[in-house]
Amino acid sequence: MDKIVISLGGSVIVPGDNDDVFLKHFAEMIAPLCEQYQIYLVCGGGKIARYYINVGRGLELSEPELDDMGIMVTRMNANLVIHALGSLAVDTVATDILEAHHLSQRGKVVVMGGTVPGHTTDAVAAMLAKEVKAVRIINGTSVDGAYTADPKKDPNAERFSRMTHTQLYALVNVGIHGAGPSNVFDRLGAQIARENQMDIYIVDGRDLDDLKNAIEGRPVKGTVVSD
Ligand code: UTP
Repeated sequence: MDKIVISLGGSVIVPGDNDDVFLKHFAEMIAPLCEQYQIYLVCGGGKIARYYINVGRGLELSEPELDDMGIMVTRMNANLVIHALGSLAVDTVATDILEAHHLSQRGKVVVMGGTVPGHTTDAVAAMLAKEVKAVRIINGTSVDGAYTADPKKDPNAERFSRMTHTQLYALVNVGIHGAGPSNVFDRLGAQIARENQMDIYIVDGRDLDDLKNAIEGRPVKGTVVSD
């Protein structure tokens, strides 16, 4: 049975836009796919994590302390997703990738958040994909693909329909990375995917049709990262 790891951003789970309705529809979309694929879901923290991290930064907490707060929020989101999935999910939030692997159960989704300070849940998704030998990584995020620049800030940004791992790495390997940054994919995650030749599908996580196509390895509106 093919294994699929989905990195689902906090910006998809709890943006504050009919989140309960979205999560119900998400569960309905996932239900038939659980029989065909072993699905692992890594939940992000989104703006709620960033809120705590910003307040903590104002209180001069260290980067690992800020990361720990981010991790707590990702696990709270994982817990919410487990409730939304009900009997479709293993009812424990895995706290590291080995535990996630061990919790694998036919027909059920394994859900987790962050693990340790120093990276984001995209990197966790890439590490988990390597551990379970997933056929692809899906990044369900707040943008509908990888762009040449942030499409929310730059109207001339162009979307890639396909790109290589080297192109993705070049795109995300910019700037200073501390607790709470938001990017199209985590730099470490992009590096792990490149080293292990794992395809990444970057799609709008709220577009359930595109998310489903990505899980099934069909053509997507978003970006496919592959060599
Ligand atoms: P996210 O994975 O949500 O990061 O983790 P992000 O890039 O800010 O989120 P999206 O993709 O825009 O939704 C939130 C924060 O939690 C900490 C980091 O500080 C991260 O920025 N974190 C998360 C860790 O330190 N380790 C982890 O394994 C996961």
